Amino acid sequence: MRLQRLIAACTELSRRAAEDVITAGRVRVNGQVVTKLGTTVRPGLDRVALDDRLLVLPHEHFYLLLHKPPNFIVTKKDPQGRPTIWSLLKPWAQKLDAAGRLDFDAEGLILLSDDGDFLQKISHPKHELWKIYHVKVRRKPSAEALQALAKGVQLDDGTTTLPAQVKKLRETDAHTWIEIGIREGKNHQVKRMCEAVGHDCIRLRRVAIGSLKLGGLKPGLWRYLRPDELTRLLQEVG
Ligand code: URA
Repeated sequence: MRLQRLIAACTELSRRAAEDVITAGRVRVNGQVVTKLGTTVRPGLDRVALDDRLLVLPHEHFYLLLHKPPNFIVTKKDPQGRPTIWSLLKPWAQKLDAAGRLDFDAEGLILLSDDGDFLQKISHPKHELWKIYHVKVRRKPSAEALQALAKGVQLDDGTTTLPAQVKKLRETDAHTWIEIGIREGKNHQVKRMCEAVGHDCIRLRRVAIGSLKLGGLKPGLWRYLRPDELTRLLQEVG
């Protein structure tokens, strides 16, 4: 959240007046005087003071990471009545929204928050956060197929994907796990990319969004983001 917005929300000052107190050197963030307008602060994490008055927003935001299991939908109300990811969360977390979606059958990292600015930034393609997926495909993609995925492939709608990060992880006789990192978010993009090179995707797990990693969190469980994780993500989206 922008510093002037936080000041205006916590005081009787207008945003314009909040800018004036910033440029006048009357505002400290974590003990340091900040005079730059547009400085971003994290409500609930950064200590913001105007003169000697600590400014605390009445409501702090929540930032959660959930390991979505397959067969849960990332929609608050599903017309088909399928279980939603919100059924895995506590009642108070029902008001949180997800940053981007995962298909019903997909699994992995879902980021949730009630901080609208944050969600918009994370989901906006202009910030080009890498989203990393582990994908199980049928058979063994050739080196050419993996190269094509990395260079960009033509999808069924005629559009071409941007260069991707592609790495073979492991293979059995029947299947191969590959890691695919993309910086865009077309509908069902990873599945369609795999199909474009002739391999059906039979499992899809998102393991990272930018620097935020799913790690060892078990399917169906959630946890709060650590302050260092949130700080890095906020840096990544500017
Ligand atoms: N790509 C897909 O095909 N599905 C997802 O859920 C996410 C990325």
